Amino acid sequence: MIPVYYYSSASGTVRLFAERLGRPAHPLSERAVRRSVPDGPWVLVTPSYKTGNPQNDTIPEPVRRFLSDPQTRRLMVGVMGSGNRNFGEHYQAACRQIAAASGRPVLFEFELQGTQWDVAEAQQILADLDAAIEAHGVGQAREPQGT
Ligand SMILES: Cc1cc2nc3c(=O)[nH]c(=O)nc-3n(C[C@H](O)[C@H](O)[C@H](O)COP(=O)(O)O)c2cc1C
Repeated sequence: MIPVYYYSSASGTVRLFAERLGRPAHPLSERAVRRSVPDGPWVLVTPSYKTGNPQNDTIPEPVRRFLSDPQTRRLMVGVMGSGNRNFGEHYQAACRQIAAASGRPVLFEFELQGTQWDVAEAQQILADLDAAIEAHGVGQAREPQGT
């Protein structure tokens, strides 16, 4: 079963979502998790946080640190994003930016902690990934093109 690694701030909305997926969910707010390297394919769940810096950087620092390891990046299958449409052009900026930089797909986007239907849809996407990996080893040990 493919695990998710997620970042959630003290407000905990992404944690609520991640813990309802019914599969291993590792919090990147914990230093030991952040410093570990997944031993197989995994999926990132990240919020966006526009911090107001000049780069309009929205990727949470714990997510950035976790992704600094090349093996961790190589094993990432895709990204799910939590955001808030009130942020307009910055909606899901972190999720989309990580997907673009890694060559991996945005698997799913939802607002805040997601609805029950969002959770069900994400569960289905992850179950389909489990089946694909089981059948073909999809997502394992493949470098994105052009990096
Ligand atoms: C200071 C702040 C900045 C945010 N910036 C963005 C943003 O740029 N884009 C976006 O889609 N959502 C943005 N959000 C919404 C969060 O990504 C969303 O609320 C998310 O569910 C927070 O997850 P967490 O409570 O688990 O940390 C922002 C929220 C806060 C409080």
